[in-house]
Amino acid sequence: MFLTDEQKAILDGEKGETLSKVMQSVIRYGELFGADKLIPVTSKYNHLVTSFGLKALGPVYELMNQLIEAGAVSGQKFSADPRPLDKKVPKNFLQNFIFNKFMYSRQDFYEGQLQKLGLMEKDAFTCACYLDEVGNKPEKGDILSWSESSAVVYANSVLGARCNRNSGIIDIMGSIIGYVPHFGLVTDEGRKATWIIEIKTTRKPEAQLLGSAIGMKVVEDVPYIKGLDQWIGSELDDAACTYLKDFGAACASNGAVGLYHVDNLTPEAKELGESLIKEGAQVYVIDDAELQRIYDSYPVIWKDADAKPKLCFLGCPHMTMEQLKSWTDRLEAALKANKHKKVAVPTVFTTAPAVLKAFEQTDYAKRLKKMGVVVSYICPLMYMNNPLCGKMPVITSSNKLRTYTTARYYTDDEILAQISGRKD
Ligand code: F3S
Repeated sequence: MFLTDEQKAILDGEKGETLSKVMQSVIRYGELFGADKLIPVTSKYNHLVTSFGLKALGPVYELMNQLIEAGAVSGQKFSADPRPLDKKVPKNFLQNFIFNKFMYSRQDFYEGQLQKLGLMEKDAFTCACYLDEVGNKPEKGDILSWSESSAVVYANSVLGARCNRNSGIIDIMGSIIGYVPHFGLVTDEGRKATWIIEIKTTRKPEAQLLGSAIGMKVVEDVPYIKGLDQWIGSELDDAACTYLKDFGAACASNGAVGLYHVDNLTPEAKELGESLIKEGAQVYVIDDAELQRIYDSYPVIWKDADAKPKLCFLGCPHMTMEQLKSWTDRLEAALKANKHKKVAVPTVFTTAPAVLKAFEQTDYAKRLKKMGVVVSYICPLMYMNNPLCGKMPVITSSNKLRTYTTARYYTDDEILAQISGRKD
């Protein structure tokens, strides 16, 4: 790999042994993927995927300590993925015991380390760090050192920033050293599409199902999606961005997509159009029947497939303000129609702490609380990782949560029917 004199000097230890090791790690990582050089990280902030103080992560705490002691902290402040615990989220005595004793017992300690390393602010814990309320929103063309898959795919596709699907810890190393390896999605060539997706549905496709279908088909390739603008428009307004957030997270978790282009909508597709499509690209047509096939293919892994849901999670990735408000309106109307005052299934909406703070200033927050919905900053996946929580029948409209846990997927409309107690 080509290195500049400055990079060689860091590697040779001119800035200390710790920085030299960080540089070695980033170089080795890049070499594995055939990177030809290192390029500067240009975003204002970084984002870290490792946000949880899991008892078993001893080596991570040791590494962080070494970095702090050597003063090898990043010039970039950073946000981090969501916290794994929130007192507001329902749990029983035993589940709570497991969380605090065996799982996230190092949370406070680890958060202390993150603050020393440069956490943006005390509450900068969310996977949707690019939301306006949070403020970690890269510019088009920015080079990032992120690894949270849902944030990487959003930054690449919706914001036009450039980032590979890095792994945890490599994210902070790239930020500390100020360089990332030049390969894959940070290159012009790596951003070209090898799949054309033709949307031929008769109604707006469910974002989470469409993302799942595309993710499973193209796996880690770049898709160019045609025909979606007829359903979500040709402007990146709040509704379109929210749709793409959920769509992208499903692509990134049901497959390993790090970038997609939507014809006539996402920045690079608007600028470069079909010249982004590589010669010989494969074609995948998605119609109503294909989405139904995907939905029907999801396995039900509950012990009792007919069990009554004990908990519902919405907001993986974290909800936007627009989602919180529209869900409040829809739920209120559905409960009224079903002659109920409160949700029929304990329900948790998850969002970024900064969005939660702003939401609580609105009348919507009171209305949602009255209906019995908890709004939390938790990561539902980290909640479900507790074996006793994993045994519970939990429902969600998140395809990421469905993929990684025992939670059962339903469309937004089906979730609404269940939590509003509709009798069919
Ligand atoms: Fe975010 Fe946790 Fe889901 S990090 S995308 S809420 S799994």
